[in-house]
Amino acid sequence: MQSMDELFHALLQDVYYAEKQLLKALPKLAKKSTNQKLKEALTKHREETEEQVERLEKVFEAIGKRPRGKTCDAILGIIAEGQEVMNEVDDEALRDAGIVSSAQAAEHYEIARYGTLCAWAKLLGQDEAVELLSETLAEEKHADELLTNIAEAGVNESAAERPQAAE
Ligand SMILES: [Fe+2]
Ligand SMILES: [Fe+2]
Repeated sequence: MQSMDELFHALLQDVYYAEKQLLKALPKLAKKSTNQKLKEALTKHREETEEQVERLEKVFEAIGKRPRGKTCDAILGIIAEGQEVMNEVDDEALRDAGIVSSAQAAEHYEIARYGTLCAWAKLLGQDEAVELLSETLAEEKHADELLTNIAEAGVNESAAERPQAAE
């Protein structure tokens, strides 16, 4: 990679891949959630994610590139951990707490990526991209806050009330 715009393009491909993976992962997390608010939040965020993918496609267009993803190992790892929680935790309250934690790991990853993309788009003078990426960044932050609220409104407490594992 020789220039800032190549770096920007590579990161854009990374996030595009991540969003597409999340489109598939979010419904699975929602389906396995027992807490109604959690289920709704994940379902709604999947809808937002569809728009986020479209926004990324517009960003590709703005920089004169075709939308293409590039395998992002980080998101695959986060999703695999979420899958593990869903497969290995039988207790519903504990599983909900684990699902919130996995979903927040994904949101934090996205917040980091979109934060960088916004900053780089600004540097590159890509105004339309800045606007589109900022909109998504705000949605990711909001999704993260919502998950924190849901955890604090009962999911974590219910999980903590479960009997402790025997030594
Ligand atoms: Fe997203
Ligand atoms: Fe997200």
